[in-house]
Amino acid sequence: MTLRIAMLAAECEPWAKTGGLADVVDALARALGRIEGAADALRLPVDVFLPRYRTVPVPADAIREPVLEVPDPGRGDAVVHATIVNVAASGFRLRLVDVPAAFDRDGFYDHPDDPWRFAVFCRVALAALKRDGAPLDVLSIHDWHTGPALLERARGEAAGDPFFARMAVTVTIHNLAYHGWVPNEQLGQLGLRRDDRLAGANPHGIDLLLTAIEGAELANTVSPGFAAEALTPAFGMGLDDALRAMGDRFGGILNGIDPDVWNPATDPALAAPYGRADMVGRAACRADLLRRNGLDPEDEGLVVGMIGRMDPQKGFDLLADAMQDLLADGVRVIVQGSGHASLADPFRALAAANPGRVALIERFDRDMARRIYAGADVFLMPSRFEPCGQGQMIALRYGTPPVVRRTGGLADSVIDVTDDPGRWTGFVFDEASPTALVAAIRRAGVVRGSAPAWAALVDRGMAVDFNWVTGSAPAYVAMFRRAVALRAASRRG
Ligand code: GLC
Repeated sequence: MTLRIAMLAAECEPWAKTGGLADVVDALARALGRIEGAADALRLPVDVFLPRYRTVPVPADAIREPVLEVPDPGRGDAVVHATIVNVAASGFRLRLVDVPAAFDRDGFYDHPDDPWRFAVFCRVALAALKRDGAPLDVLSIHDWHTGPALLERARGEAAGDPFFARMAVTVTIHNLAYHGWVPNEQLGQLGLRRDDRLAGANPHGIDLLLTAIEGAELANTVSPGFAAEALTPAFGMGLDDALRAMGDRFGGILNGIDPDVWNPATDPALAAPYGRADMVGRAACRADLLRRNGLDPEDEGLVVGMIGRMDPQKGFDLLADAMQDLLADGVRVIVQGSGHASLADPFRALAAANPGRVALIERFDRDMARRIYAGADVFLMPSRFEPCGQGQMIALRYGTPPVVRRTGGLADSVIDVTDDPGRWTGFVFDEASPTALVAAIRRAGVVRGSAPAWAALVDRGMAVDFNWVTGSAPAYVAMFRRAVALRAASRRG
């Protein structure tokens, strides 16, 4: 039996991205549609719903559905007019939710009416799915922005609507740190009052991620390692109780990467192509990266690359505090980050004081990111927590050994020599401290001193298969099937 699946998400590459969520939504949706070697029943063409933010380009051949009118979640007496714009994305159908009052503004998030904006998004998407006329088996929602979908389902079910009664929901948690907290004063934006049953048990407001966890048939996060950590108070960010209460209905599925999107042999951003069988081009990529960032390409000394959202999660501060020791060792550093500008302050100062040794790219630059993956000698991810992370997977594929903290998905995807001396792929350190970070980079420097050992390490990394289609997408299919079974059983029971 083929399932009908729709995904709701606040980001999707290349249309709207601030972080890894966007890559995962795009790659997972595509992979579900082409699980290789599987019976037809396993191929699941999905619809992905995304808000039509101001910056989302609408292609000329996009198809607009007739205007939808839904009750305004924030005002009982008003309606919202929405247009669904269908865009042929590669491998799935992208359906943009166009409500200018909610989304035609600067920035995706951090508006005072975010609860309303994402309630509108969920309500419109579900109304469009219902209008399609075919039953929906699974709604796959992602992060807090899509939590209002559970309020919608509960309302639809209470009204006796079979579309909602049938629909199973899975929630995928990419970031446990952002909850979508809505204080009592703002409950009206979700169409709720404090004494509504749907507003939950917290006397102060509603947590939209918690709403999703408690309401969904199944919940997962994006690596088994982080799933285990999330059950502890240290990593659970206040939701560990709720996740523990789910028992085996919560787990981890490691993200993948799309090997066609991330391929040094075909990447047009690179100065030269290369691959496992022919690594010659890599030297040109290194020289190109260094030259573009004012670093001497002739200098053979270790170059460390780091890319990420400037968010406390990512451990930029650990690198900043390690910089004096690294510079004393002759190590050079290239950092790309966008987000909280204050986290970039130390790097701005370091780059100004050490031209040619420290470079800061203070924006999200897709092409430069690819050049860093291909041209740095090692790739650093000192995250304090990391549900999955994809930089380490891309770095492995691009032949740049990762240096990572032993946490969440990093620990699940990079093998240290001490874990397995026959299969190791990078450098893993435990403590979230500048000292531990420096020690790991020094270990990398020592191994790099031996060309054959380094070449073998690089090659093992490039051989690792993180393909969604063969790995994680089938695990999502299994989760969707189980969610359908649970939903059917709860209706019978
Ligand atoms: C979030 C997490 C990151 C994960 C990504 C995609 O950005 O912080 O670890 O890789 O979502 O799932």
